[in-house]
Parts: sequence; structure tokens; C-alpha cells
Amino acid sequence: MDKLKLALIGCGGMGTRHLYGLRELARTPFNNIALCALCDLNRDHAELAAREAEQLLGAKPPVFTSMEAMVQAIPDLMAVDVVTDPSVHHTVVCQALDMGLHVLVEKPMAISVKACHAMIAAGERNGRKLSVAENYRRDPSARLTRHLLDTGRIGTPYMAMLHAVRGGNEIFITPWRHLKDRGGPLLDMGVHYADLIRYQLGDVVEVYGDARLVEPVRKKQRAIRDQYAFYQRRFRAMSSEVPATAEDTAMAMMKMESGVTVSFMMGIGGHGACRNQLILGDKGCLQSFGNRGSQAIWQSADGAVRDQDAILDAIDDFELHPLLDHFFPTENSAGDRAVDWKLIAYEQWELARAVLNGDPIEVNGTEGMKDVAAIYAICESARAGRTVTATEIERGEVYAYQAEIDDALGIDT
Ligand SMILES: NC(=O)c1ccc[n+]([C@@H]2O[C@H](COP(=O)([O-])OP(=O)(O)OC[C@H]3O[C@@H](n4cnc5c(N)ncnc54)[C@H](O)[C@@H]3O)[C@@H](O)[C@H]2O)c1
Repeated sequence: MDKLKLALIGCGGMGTRHLYGLRELARTPFNNIALCALCDLNRDHAELAAREAEQLLGAKPPVFTSMEAMVQAIPDLMAVDVVTDPSVHHTVVCQALDMGLHVLVEKPMAISVKACHAMIAAGERNGRKLSVAENYRRDPSARLTRHLLDTGRIGTPYMAMLHAVRGGNEIFITPWRHLKDRGGPLLDMGVHYADLIRYQLGDVVEVYGDARLVEPVRKKQRAIRDQYAFYQRRFRAMSSEVPATAEDTAMAMMKMESGVTVSFMMGIGGHGACRNQLILGDKGCLQSFGNRGSQAIWQSADGAVRDQDAILDAIDDFELHPLLDHFFPTENSAGDRAVDWKLIAYEQWELARAVLNGDPIEVNGTEGMKDVAAIYAICESARAGRTVTATEIERGEVYAYQAEIDDALGIDT
């Protein structure tokens, strides 16, 4: 089988997990990728990842600290998997596309809507593929939820709720995730939820939102659960507290093109917690949008509540994509400890199929931009003190909040 010659750019926490994704893919008959190189500005990160790659894939890839040097050394390189922090996604991705490489970029697609547009334009002018690694929608629970909606199992949806609030003032994975011009928790986590909402219920048309910074100082946790060498090493080196400039809590009412209204709430700060997902239809209800390793729950019109296994027993018209079916033969990822890696593998495989076989990309630049726009619509609405339309945000007509980010990073395209 032809293989996509791919390099990983950004060898931090998620970059390491992308290597595990490649390992999962390599174990399947679907493998269509050859890892050729690793690149990170920080040589130590790249070297650590190269040792990890050797363990996982059986060969140690060469390491680079600049994309130019990497492309010069590997002239037949075809694509890059960009897993840097989001404040540089647009720089790295545009440079890669302009060098003729195809790109898979981690979510959030970029730090601002303007930066997303620059990436879409770079893909178009170079005739190269651009795919956004949005993993939650690829989970079997999200696929099944979407299938139940598409096949009318809950009739016509009219209202929905996605609430994901957890309190506390701990550092959320990395210090950069608390800085407005580096990412911010609303963007970092919020795009996952925006993408799930859009995947299940279609495009957003209007948003009224509020966004707050509840915890201006974040404290180092006592310990972290992630056992990857990279996460543990970084955790040991982390300051005991870091300043936060990005909002950590948001609430919004979203009006969807379909007419569904969505109550959205997310928070990583303050006190109190709640997690709730609900899609109400005139013939039933779904108690999930799907999520990595989660379960679809369906309440039918007769009141019966079925978990994912019971749903799969009750219906016979649901099929996963063959690679997802290979990864999750029970069509349920709950409890699968490799779910994170398998969903990444699916994203990597999809880019390779698109390049090698011309297959479509599910979350392309426009989709990734819409997810970013949906989250910034909340911050822009809060700043403007009014309801904003998705079109205003996607076209940059309401822009005061993001202007500060673009100015700070010199994004002017
Ligand atoms: N889909 C998911 O579930 C998920 C989970 C975690 C992270 N992510 C995403 O992955 C991305 C990376 O997050 P992370 O937690 O791994 O961050 P990180 O800080 O751990 O790693 C980022 C790496 O990129 C490197 N880097 C920065 N600028 C670079 C450049 N110009 N060229 C080359 N390397 C550069 C850094 O040195 C670092 O090693 C983010 O977009 C984040 O949102 C996604």
C-alpha cells in the first residue's frame, strides 16, 4: 500500500499522543502512513519524542528544529501533522502549505477567525489538503448519536443543552492555556463542544453570550495522572502559580440554522460543577452529544431509556466506518484505554486517504473555522453586549475581542 510520508511538528504533550496514534494505525491493515521526521523548536522535546517513537514504531525518526531544514533534508516529504500550541498554528500551517505540504492540524484550528481564514486561503492557493484534528465527533458515541438524529429516532429536535462546568483554580494542563493570546480554556476546550453541537445539530446562526475570568491566578496541581514522560517532566518544571488572562467560564444561548436552541455553559474555574448533555426532540430525547470514550443514551417516546449497548441491540441500521469498526468492534469505546490514540489514528489515516486517494476530509478548514467562530461569538457577544450572528463573526464584522489577540500576535492578513 502507498504510504503518506508524514512529519510531526510540535512534540509536546499532544504531539506525544499523536505518536501513539501512529502506533495504533500501524497495528492495523489500514496503515497508510510512514513517519519520516519530528520537528520542534525545542530540541529536547523533539529528542524525547524521537525516543518514544522508536519504542512505539521500531525506528527513530530524524529530529529537526526548523521546518525549512526538515524539508531540505527530506525532499519527498508529503505532509505534516501540526501539534504545536494554537497561537502558532497559522504560522506553521501556512508555511507548510506554501512549501507544498498537506496538513493535519490539531484543534483549535487557530487562535482567531482571521488566522483560520489565512490558513484556508493558503490551502486553496497551493492546492493542498487541510484537515483539523477534531476527535470528539469521531467517537462511536457521537457517530451513534448522530445516526439516531438522522434516522428520526427522536423526531424533530427543538432544544438542547451542553453544560460542562468544573470548578477549581488549578493550572489546566499547561500555563499557556490560561493566556488569551496563546489559547485560553474557552477556546481550547470550547471548540470540542462547539464542534459536537455543530456535528449533531448543524450550523450556528446567532449567539448571545457571557464570558468571565473567574480565576486570575492558577495554581500547580499536587500531581497529574498523565504518565507520559513528557507530561511528567513538564509538570516537575512548572511554576507553582501562573497568571491567567483568558476567560475561563462562559454561558451562551445559541440559535441553530435548524431552529434548535442550545443552552451552552462551560467553565474551568470558580466553584461548583455540572455536566449535562441533552437533545430534546418531539419523539424522544438523547442524553449525550457523544464524547471521547462516552456512551450515547436514548430515551424513546415510550419512556424507555437505553444506554449504548442497549441501543445497539435495539437497532440494526447503524454502521461505523470500517477503521472505527476495526478499532471498536463492539461499537462502544467506553472503557477502552486506547480510545484517545485510536481517534487520533483515524484522523491521521483520513488525511492520508485524502492525499493518496482523493477522499473527502470531514473537518476541513471551513469546518474548523466555524468551530473557532462559534466560541469567539460568545466572547464577542459579551464584549458587544448584544446578540451576534455567526456570519458577523465569520466575516470579522464583529471583532473587538479578537482584535486584541491579532494585534498582540501581529496577525494581519
Ligand atoms: N484533541 C485533543 O483532545 C487535544 C488534547 C490536548 C491538546 N490538543 C491540542 O494540541 C495542541 C498542542 O497542545 P499540547 O498540550 O501538546 O501543547 P504543548 O505545549 O505540550 O506542546 C506544544 C509543542 O509545540 C512546540 N512548538 C511551539 N511552537 C512551535 C513551532 N513554531 N514549531 C515547532 N514546534 C513548536 C513546543 O515547543 C511544544 O513542544 C493544541 O492545539 C491543543 O489544543 C488537543
